Amino acid sequence: MSQHEDGARITISSETCTRCGRCIVTCPRKLLVREGDEVRSVADLSLCIECGHCVAVCEPGALRHAAIAADATPDIGDLALTDVQLEQFLRRRRSIRKFKSKPVEPEKLDRLFDIARYAPTGKNRQGVLHTVLTADRIMTLERTAAQFYRKLIGRLESPIGRWLVGRVVGQKNLGELLWGLGDLKRDVEQVERGEPTYCHDAPVVVIVSGEASSTIHEDCSYAAYHLMLAAETLELGTCLIGYITAAAARLKAVRDVAELPPDHQVYSTVAIGYPAERFYRLVPRREANVRHLS
Ligand SMILES: Cc1cc2nc3c(=O)[nH]c(=O)nc-3n(C[C@H](O)[C@H](O)[C@H](O)COP(=O)(O)O)c2cc1C
Ligand code: SF4
Ligand code: SF4
Repeated sequence: MSQHEDGARITISSETCTRCGRCIVTCPRKLLVREGDEVRSVADLSLCIECGHCVAVCEPGALRHAAIAADATPDIGDLALTDVQLEQFLRRRRSIRKFKSKPVEPEKLDRLFDIARYAPTGKNRQGVLHTVLTADRIMTLERTAAQFYRKLIGRLESPIGRWLVGRVVGQKNLGELLWGLGDLKRDVEQVERGEPTYCHDAPVVVIVSGEASSTIHEDCSYAAYHLMLAAETLELGTCLIGYITAAAARLKAVRDVAELPPDHQVYSTVAIGYPAERFYRLVPRREANVRHLS
């Protein structure tokens, strides 16, 4: 992992260290050990993922990690968020499909990304890229995605094409595509007429992408959801645009609109803007689908 090439260094103050052993227990890489009466790091820290668990768990602040600036590790504080508050907050977020034409201030966007970067990533890779599209670039994105859907519609309308699509996506997904064929056609025609469609005329569209890794799909999804939740606190609304994500997965031209690095795949697309619609009620969802096995 390139971020670790310079070798992470850990120092533990023997004056303030209480020998509680919490850092030993919490390190996901088992890089802290007890040696006699002392706690120290192993000599080879090349497996360190710089997650900062060791720093965060050390109550007296005895442990320092060269890759984690001491002035960037303030006390965690006492955030008393109840389950009821969190549930309200999560339930209040709704997909926004009508936006004001008001642009989103660059400082607000900066703040969103600043918060989203705390989403978890596999092995703490932090390899998620957010590409911000505005103005005409969004319509270009839609037009390019519509080319993909125009072709798909052509296939779905011919028996042999339908059979081929079924082979690729499976019968269940084919059924879903055929069920939504009318919408698919309407949307493509709208885009071809130059009308903003897939991204709901949002002033900002964020393409969330990353280089292939065993967890990049999840990394990008969690980052996107963090972005969506952060937006709620800044009076912004969001909507995931699966139509664009799906088209980008299959058509390079869609990815090219976002000028992505060649080895990047798109895992989420988020439309962002000031909501021009407001919701007054929470609505129910189905009961949680949970199984307990022992
Ligand atoms: C993976 C994924 C893709 C989605 N794609 C779209 C989309 O292309 N267009 C859209 O308007 N909404 C899209 N949505 C939003 C869902 O329709 C929405 O989350 C769902 O209906 C629940 O409503 P809520 O977000 O208001 O709670 C997508 C959601 C997810 C999770
Ligand atoms: S930063 Fe994480 S992986 Fe590295 S030593 Fe500390 S706890 Fe272990
Ligand atoms: S968590 Fe801090 S105080 Fe406890 S053993 Fe590790 S370095 Fe020492």
